[in-house]
Amino acid sequence: MAKLNLSLQLAKKAQKKSAKNSCSVYLIHDNKQLLQNHDNKNTLTAPLQNLIKASNFGGKICETAISFGTDESPSLLIVGVGKADKLNGTALQKIAKTIYTTLSKNHKSATIYLDNSLDSVQFGQLALALLNASYTFDKYKSKKDDKILLNQITLQVLTDEKTGSLEAFEQSLALQNAIFIGQSLTKDVANEPPNVCFPAYMAKQAKDLAKQYPDLLTVKVLGEKDMEKLGMNCFLAVSRGSAKEGQLVLLEYNGLTKGKNKAKKLENPIVFVGKGVTFDTGGISLKPGEGMGEMKFDMGGAAATLGAMKALCEARLPLQVVGALACAENMPSGDATRPGDIVTAMNGTTVEILNTDAEGRLVLCDTLTYVQQYKPKVIIDMATLTGACIIALGHVRTGLYSNDEDVIFDLEQASEDAHDRVWHMPLDEDYQEQLNSHFADVQNIGGRPAGSVTASCFLSRFVKDVPWAHLDIAGTAWISGSKAEATGRPVPLLLNYLNRQVW
Ligand code: BES
Ligand code: MN
Ligand code: ZN
Repeated sequence: MAKLNLSLQLAKKAQKKSAKNSCSVYLIHDNKQLLQNHDNKNTLTAPLQNLIKASNFGGKICETAISFGTDESPSLLIVGVGKADKLNGTALQKIAKTIYTTLSKNHKSATIYLDNSLDSVQFGQLALALLNASYTFDKYKSKKDDKILLNQITLQVLTDEKTGSLEAFEQSLALQNAIFIGQSLTKDVANEPPNVCFPAYMAKQAKDLAKQYPDLLTVKVLGEKDMEKLGMNCFLAVSRGSAKEGQLVLLEYNGLTKGKNKAKKLENPIVFVGKGVTFDTGGISLKPGEGMGEMKFDMGGAAATLGAMKALCEARLPLQVVGALACAENMPSGDATRPGDIVTAMNGTTVEILNTDAEGRLVLCDTLTYVQQYKPKVIIDMATLTGACIIALGHVRTGLYSNDEDVIFDLEQASEDAHDRVWHMPLDEDYQEQLNSHFADVQNIGGRPAGSVTASCFLSRFVKDVPWAHLDIAGTAWISGSKAEATGRPVPLLLNYLNRQVW
């Protein structure tokens, strides 16, 4: 058995000078033992036993008891984890949140002692959840919450043949730290208000990112003039009503060349495409006012693409990956696209736009056509595409649509490992007829039945002979309500997917 200290770099916070003590954290099972230990050497030290007795601790999930230490001796925190066999990703996320909120305002550092019942996958889920617990977006608050002290968490793990090798834990930690950095960027840009975050702002973020990783990333931005030349009239139809110029942003990552030599052209890269509607009013098919403010998150797919590219740079995976951000603002105006307008897509398909609120598929279809120039190995697009997907899957699982069994398998596996879950949805030909137009090749809406499926069917018409998957993240890209906030999903899924492609 090997012991290993793994440290997490939490989100940077303003530090108070006063040196507060550290805390030792133990996870306790509801039989009042340490998290189930397969060789039964789960002896509790006297201080732990005393704390359990004194606090009448039962070990229920997220139950806590703490005994405060001094500057010299660390505090002791015990956290219930319930039944060990129920310790799934959701439970680990709750446990992480409990640990973080219990300690963040009164301890500078913490060491969590894990026993050998968590394997390297569960360990990764816990580590990422601890990191994400430290994320805040208080840029626009005059009074910042400066009471956060906790800036360092060490995870001490025991590794053996059951839990995984030392390398597996180390690699998982490196991946989680990279994911957290990318996911935080995704959240940061998605949380920005729509008067700040419009298409050119997204392009600027991509350019800044490319400057940060000059040996890995290059960026190209297409404006509306460029798109006109290419015949991207579906994309332009969305942007038309807005005073803000639409932008198609291309980030090219080459992790296969060493040092400064990145001239090598990408060969069959993996391509990510993100819907970047920086605000979706619905256009002339105007949305109702209630909750419309949340439509600032309609660029969540592009934000996730940007964040995934950053995480990829941090992880330096030996792959070639393109991230395409399809950025436009959907506004009504005297010159906006009308319901009934017919436009010709970049691939020659004529599209009858019967509802200007079904705009995501319009920016995506031309972007999908465009990225096929890269001769991709696989295209994965992500989009806050349909309210119907929320009706089908709620806010737990992302809708997964694909034309390729292997891609489905890989994404499903990656999603379980990342605990960033998807559900495979159908794409039968039969649904396509709902998109038949009386006047054009296709119409952009398919009626109420299976609204998330027909949106995907629309996209599928623009992908020819390439393995492709579409992720409908309408229910998972942000938490809705009075505390609406971006989740940074599906960055963990995408990075776990990419990581699988390396090994
Ligand atoms: N961005 C929305 C989808 C959406 C709605 C995401 C609510 C998250 C929460 C998308 O552009 C849209 O408006 N879709 C329409 C499609 C319909 C007009 C066919 C929808 O879902 O109502
Ligand atoms: Mn819309
Ligand atoms: Zn939209």
